[in-house]
Amino acid sequence: MDYKNYFLKCRERYEKPTPSLKSFYEDPLRIIPKNIFSIKTKEYLENMSISLKKEFDNGINDIGTMHVIKNILRYKKSIESVSNELIPYLEETMYGCNLYIDKIYIYRTKPLKKKKESYLWHHDNNPNEIVKLIIYLNDVDIFNSPFEYLANESNKGILAQCTRLGPDYWEAPPNDGRLEKEVEDMIKFNNYHNKKITGDKFTAFAFSNNIIHRANPIIKGYRDVLNIRVKPTINKPPQYFNSNWTSSFESSGAVNPNPMIDWQNEINSNIFKKNLSKIKKVLSNKIKSISKKIPSNL
Ligand SMILES: [Fe+2]
Repeated sequence: MDYKNYFLKCRERYEKPTPSLKSFYEDPLRIIPKNIFSIKTKEYLENMSISLKKEFDNGINDIGTMHVIKNILRYKKSIESVSNELIPYLEETMYGCNLYIDKIYIYRTKPLKKKKESYLWHHDNNPNEIVKLIIYLNDVDIFNSPFEYLANESNKGILAQCTRLGPDYWEAPPNDGRLEKEVEDMIKFNNYHNKKITGDKFTAFAFSNNIIHRANPIIKGYRDVLNIRVKPTINKPPQYFNSNWTSSFESSGAVNPNPMIDWQNEINSNIFKKNLSKIKKVLSNKIKSISKKIPSNL
């Protein structure tokens, strides 16, 4: 089964009214209403943003064009509070099905001299049903790396051709998903235009990972971001965010080609990995103790 069909099944099994399927694909970028976060969540976000600023100002972990947080569990309470308010909104207004969080990225974009990686027009090329939520953790204007996307005449985001649909069709995208020339042509001939998302801290938006987008380089200041990625699931998880099924930079950004591998399978595979590492440890200790007992002159 491919991701689209699995998504349709998830919608069938959803117990609340479902929003339009057509607009899921035709309106793939949604600005989240400003009043979505409670006072409590804003407090969590405020503390998170202060702590992150200190951490990133000291420049700890770098991956390519970003400073990153490797241990996302340090921000567990903030992530949970944000998720418990944002994800139900997305389930009810965009997807019409249950969701769980499979990835969290927390990062600061680094200043750079020449545009590369995410600073070039691209799509992420996971299936269209994978959506990312970005929450700015400080005020963002045109000078400190606003997110930018390609829009049509009605200001709707444009989806690039995805080459990963499910187990039977899972190909690498042409030119690694980079779309510089294509965007230039689309702006010239299709009447499309680029749009930058600026806003005060805690501005949030959701977008299909396949909309044509890019980050902008820092000209002045900095930009810290909480990025939450969600996947459809038939069975509602006990929590949206859980380290048994939510990973970060330590593993690949590509989702499993099989959409039915959801949070429940992730739990089992994590339990298996933990047990396997315990068995490896016991075996290696056994081998060490046996090799100590063998006389060295043998
Ligand atoms: Fe991207």
